[in-house]
Amino acid sequence: DSYSLLILPGDGIGPEVMVEVVKIIDWFQTHRGMSFEVTQDLVGGAAYDEHGSPCADETLEKALSVDAVLLGAVGGPQYDSLDFSVKPERGLLRLRKELDLFANLRPAQCFDALADFSSLKREVVAGLDILIVRELTSGVYFGEPRGIHADDNNPDNEGGRVGVNTQRYTSGEIRRVARSAFDLAGQRSGRVCSMEKANVMESGILWREEVQWVHDNEYPDIELSHMYADNGAMQLVRNPRQFDVIVTDNLFGDILSDAAAMLTGSLGMLPSASLGAKMENGRPRAMYEPVHGSAPDIAGQGKANPIACILSFAMALRYSFDRGDAAADLERAVERVLADGVRTADLMGPDGGTPVSTAEMGDRIVA
Ligand code: NAI
Ligand code: MG
Repeated sequence: DSYSLLILPGDGIGPEVMVEVVKIIDWFQTHRGMSFEVTQDLVGGAAYDEHGSPCADETLEKALSVDAVLLGAVGGPQYDSLDFSVKPERGLLRLRKELDLFANLRPAQCFDALADFSSLKREVVAGLDILIVRELTSGVYFGEPRGIHADDNNPDNEGGRVGVNTQRYTSGEIRRVARSAFDLAGQRSGRVCSMEKANVMESGILWREEVQWVHDNEYPDIELSHMYADNGAMQLVRNPRQFDVIVTDNLFGDILSDAAAMLTGSLGMLPSASLGAKMENGRPRAMYEPVHGSAPDIAGQGKANPIACILSFAMALRYSFDRGDAAADLERAVERVLADGVRTADLMGPDGGTPVSTAEMGDRIVA
């Protein structure tokens, strides 16, 4: 089997952490006989400098033709004054939109060696491994009508203005992200918890009904439960290990995934994936990227933690290339290196020790 992968290192620490992923790809090719067709290209500020656009048309075409895209990070202070239409972030948004990546996956995994980094007690998070699937292309961030306008004919409104957003979901939008969640659960421990607020929101009632419909008609073997999102927030902090896959809408997913991120520690550890519809070869359109940004404060100094990007590649192995075995090996290697006490600076407690560089961390994981 050969897997095609487009690598977009981007800006700041993006290229630095991506070098370490390339070492790992080389290892899998040499030692596991896997074959990757890797193409590299520019995105973000680097692409703007070269082409005057943060995502060139050719780059987009490549992204549409590969099995998976792996992106580092985009942005930096030197681009802050650029026009909105060519800002580095627009490159990312263009890719997400054109690939129609409607399911955003944010795993929260707690490596035992870092359990004391969590905002919660070790007993609550040790061994945690959950996956939040957030709907990414619809909901209240996009719904119409929206805007701020004068609140005419309402003399009782102090200030006289009203701000409006609309939470709007179609059944089709709900069903497709539900299918992603059930597919993913099938590759994990087979449980999905869907979160909404069907007690107070019409879109929440529709969400619950449609997720249940997809379950009953297409995935009867997956265990499905429903929970109100506010209770979900509480349960994530009280006992996060009760969950396997959580599926939720854009707004609740934004909040719940940030809360879940803090169960595990450093930003430098957090991977993500965004998936779209299945392509002809049965694989979903997919882009994998660390949650962190380009970290201009440490760029160029060899300090960046490459693990978030490396674990994003592990997600590509599992969800795009059907190589859950290789993904698990890679995750075990990361776990082992952390257990050996190897730490980049972001993973050092106040009592310190000597941190390793980006390259040393990558080398240790390869070893
Ligand atoms: P950031 O994630 O780049 O950095 C926040 C803090 O975390 C910094 O102190 C940084 O040094 C640290 N950090 C982040 N990743 C790290 C890693 N792998 N290892 C060690 N430390 C790490 O967020 P910030 O500072 O808000 O944004 C910086 C730039 O990145 C901005 O231009 C922003 O627009 C962009 N950005 C891009 C994203 C993306 O490409 N997906 C996401 C977030 C921000
Ligand atoms: Mg957020």
